[in-house]
Amino acid sequence: MQKLRLFYCVVAAAVLIPAAAFAASAVSEGERLGRPCAGCHATNGYAPGEYIARIGGQNADYMTKVMKEFATGKRPGSVEMSLLAKGYSEADIAAISEYYGGKAWKNSTNKIDSKKSAAGLKLAKVSGCFDCHGAKGEGIDSFPRIGGQNSGYLYEALKRYKADKIASEEMALVKDMSESQLESLAQYFSGIRK
Ligand code: HEC
Ligand code: HEC
Repeated sequence: MQKLRLFYCVVAAAVLIPAAAFAASAVSEGERLGRPCAGCHATNGYAPGEYIARIGGQNADYMTKVMKEFATGKRPGSVEMSLLAKGYSEADIAAISEYYGGKAWKNSTNKIDSKKSAAGLKLAKVSGCFDCHGAKGEGIDSFPRIGGQNSGYLYEALKRYKADKIASEEMALVKDMSESQLESLAQYFSGIRK
């Protein structure tokens, strides 16, 4: 009986260990490759400050798309992002995006202007932002999360869609908005703390 039990243990271990080792190595590949990102986006991608995006818990498919566009120059970004993205293969980018995308989201701690935020909420309601980005801006499918994102990043991103620096049919609606309206939207979505 003792021997039989040992036998089962060995069999179970032989079946389980490779699966566990495989899962661990897939995660650590993204973690290893994504280490330089933490230099700017902070540990787990929870970037403090206003202008560097939070990427911990952002949608992985969206991040993969954005990184590929940085690499090909299709998407204007900081010099750092374009140079960095070029150094990775498509598989690397997918692994890094899975790694950061798999983190739990943590909301921005940016200080929010309550007047601008209130104006932003009104505008968001009539503009359909929630239809695509979710009731709390948490993102739907591959539509990015914007709720609790850092305010300066949101504002800069909105200005890029307005100026057509990032081509997006879905985001074309902001072209008719003023910069102060975009700032209000950024303040509102950044300030979501739920
Ligand atoms: C030297 C600083 C720096 C490093 C290192 C860096 N980033 Fe960034 N990243 C930025 C800045 C600044 C922005 C916001 C401005 C912009 O869009 O370029 C940004 C934006 C992004 C965005 C867009 C966010 C969004 O919500 O669309 C993604 C995704 C991203 N970075 C991922 C990464 C990943 C993955 C790495 C590591 C491979 C990385 N970054 C390394 C500075 C950096
Ligand atoms: C029809 C669907 C749709 C609507 C409506 C919409 N969005 Fe978006 N939004 C998207 C998609 C898709 C993207 C990603 C586009 C890309 O590839 O850059 C996006 C991207 C963004 C980004 C950049 C996020 C990042 O991390 O880079 C911000 C900010 C944003 N939207 C804010 C808004 C606001 C504010 C509104 C309302 C005024 C709004 N969106 C309305 C679909 C939509």
